Amino acid sequence: MLLNGHHQIVKASSLENLMSNNGTLRSTSSRFRSVGKVTATPISTMTAVGSVKEQLAKLFEESLRATFPDESDVQPMMAICNNPKFGDYQCNNAMSLWAKIKVKGTQFKGPQPVGQAIMNNLPQSDIIEKCSIAGPGFVNVVLSREWIAQSIQKMLVDGIETWAPKLPVKKTVVDFSSPNIAKEMHVGHLRSTIIGDTLARMLEFSNVDVLRRNHVGDWGTQFGMLIEYLYEKFPNWEAASPQAIGDLEAFYKASKQRFDSDPDFKERAQKAVVSLQGGEEKYRKAWSQICEISRREFEKVYQRLGVHLEERGESFYNPFIPKTIELLNEKGLVDESEGARVIFIEGKKIPLIVVKRDGGYNYASTDLTAIWYRLNEEKAEWMIYVTDVGQREHFEMVFAAAKLAGWFPYDENAYPKASHVGFGLVLGEDGKRFRTRSTEVVKLVDLLDEAKSRCKTALIERGKAEEWTEEELEQTAEAVGYGAVKYADLKNNRLTNYTFNFDQMLSDKGNTAVYLLYAHARICSIIRKSGKDIEELKKTGRLDLAHHDERMLGVHLLQFPEVVEEACTNLLPNLLCEYLYNVSEDFTRFYTNCQVVGSAQETSRLLLCEATAVVMRKCFHLLGITPVYKI
Ligand code: ARG
Repeated sequence: MLLNGHHQIVKASSLENLMSNNGTLRSTSSRFRSVGKVTATPISTMTAVGSVKEQLAKLFEESLRATFPDESDVQPMMAICNNPKFGDYQCNNAMSLWAKIKVKGTQFKGPQPVGQAIMNNLPQSDIIEKCSIAGPGFVNVVLSREWIAQSIQKMLVDGIETWAPKLPVKKTVVDFSSPNIAKEMHVGHLRSTIIGDTLARMLEFSNVDVLRRNHVGDWGTQFGMLIEYLYEKFPNWEAASPQAIGDLEAFYKASKQRFDSDPDFKERAQKAVVSLQGGEEKYRKAWSQICEISRREFEKVYQRLGVHLEERGESFYNPFIPKTIELLNEKGLVDESEGARVIFIEGKKIPLIVVKRDGGYNYASTDLTAIWYRLNEEKAEWMIYVTDVGQREHFEMVFAAAKLAGWFPYDENAYPKASHVGFGLVLGEDGKRFRTRSTEVVKLVDLLDEAKSRCKTALIERGKAEEWTEEELEQTAEAVGYGAVKYADLKNNRLTNYTFNFDQMLSDKGNTAVYLLYAHARICSIIRKSGKDIEELKKTGRLDLAHHDERMLGVHLLQFPEVVEEACTNLLPNLLCEYLYNVSEDFTRFYTNCQVVGSAQETSRLLLCEATAVVMRKCFHLLGITPVYKI
């Protein structure tokens, strides 16, 4: 199953294609509104207020219904104003509405009067301070300063959970990390782990039930050779400790060499596969011992990264494969081709092999079965697969087969559905695939340790060893070091290849975790130094956003729910990174231009500092980064 050539690397040109289709996304109104089967009922988000965009959309929807009663299918198209001079949000319906109604005959004379009418019919609301019309009927909205301030203060009192977006799904599977037993967990798996964990965190924050699945490659013909080699090398393998077996990757290589060079061994290995698949006790035991050794190695990485996953390897789905293939066969989808059983997919030259010529199952049979299982047994509505872009073709074919079987609707926006979250390669500074000097793949644990130790050195250079306890030093170095590795990966559009560079990711300038974590710590220290009890201020103080830079920061803080929603909907964690960075830039501008401690507006400004820190902390949390409070 692992040896089926699904690991090809996609060339740069096709990456670019992917990018232009899927790259930067500026959405209009909530994409979730018009989904099919699953209705947009919020899931236990009783206190959630909904994003600003959503609240404005409701007002515009009312106006649209009142102004154009015959066009009841028109949904409000809301966007953030490109130029904040004109307003905070805009409604962009006028042009397309005009195009629609002019052919039918209308009293309106052009898109601008259409926009004007939409604006005039807006219901009274304390969200909006004023509106204006621009260009061909765009309705610009300036949010009420008072309302922004109150919304933020309410969040400070009720908690940022009240800003969780509402998504139209209850249950999802995030299939991520998924390394292969007895093989190295490489940087690609690190990317999958980091990206998958963030997606899971964002969905969980949005009150979605997430099944975090580690679809490890723990089954397939290679186990015959591994088991035979184990018997040969460690005659008393049952008592042998994992340490004795040592480096599994070397073990894998040695057994592969044996397999390729000794026909006798090869034959025994092939028989071993049959015995294993037949469930023979001795073989099952050897198999699970090999799996256990790998598992311990993987666990070291997960532990360092603070990532939680539930292992459901390929072997788990094995017993369900025959039934699944039978289901597909009954639907008339399975054909015979060159001795194999296949599913032909429109637009694909090569069919999807579901039963190999020798009668064995493969990667695709397992993935089809996993879909069946997740859908029917686990009742997941959205299945998200995080792997390198090289597997895009595989998932396209598997998802297409599931649609043919009627498991997923054809409408891309309808649920249940599956999405492939592809990502590019990790490159070294030489522009080639990231490797260590010995040209071996990089040991992930070493990489994380190095990030941490470099951070520790930097902290010691800044004199922190004298100021802090050893424990504080360790914890901060770890938070910053691991955070830097994660952020350097997440901040890029995932489809691009990214260059792994310690100096860059550990710099305290520019868009790095180090810079952001320090910015957060600085805000915390402003609050500490004021000597005020912030919990008390939240209740008794009043937030006012009189200065332009205060107001801008406030507007951006309020956009947190829609950014998370968009990052979830489009499965793009970089949107959250971009937001976090912008908030910290807004904060810097505010702090440069507005005196906080000792000013007449101290209370209000401390509250704004606190709100910024709360939002930044939530972003860190969603990105799997541990915030630090002092530097
Ligand atoms: N084990 C695979 C690999 O290392 C990734 C598995 C991804 N998940 C899945 N359901 N196919 O490439």
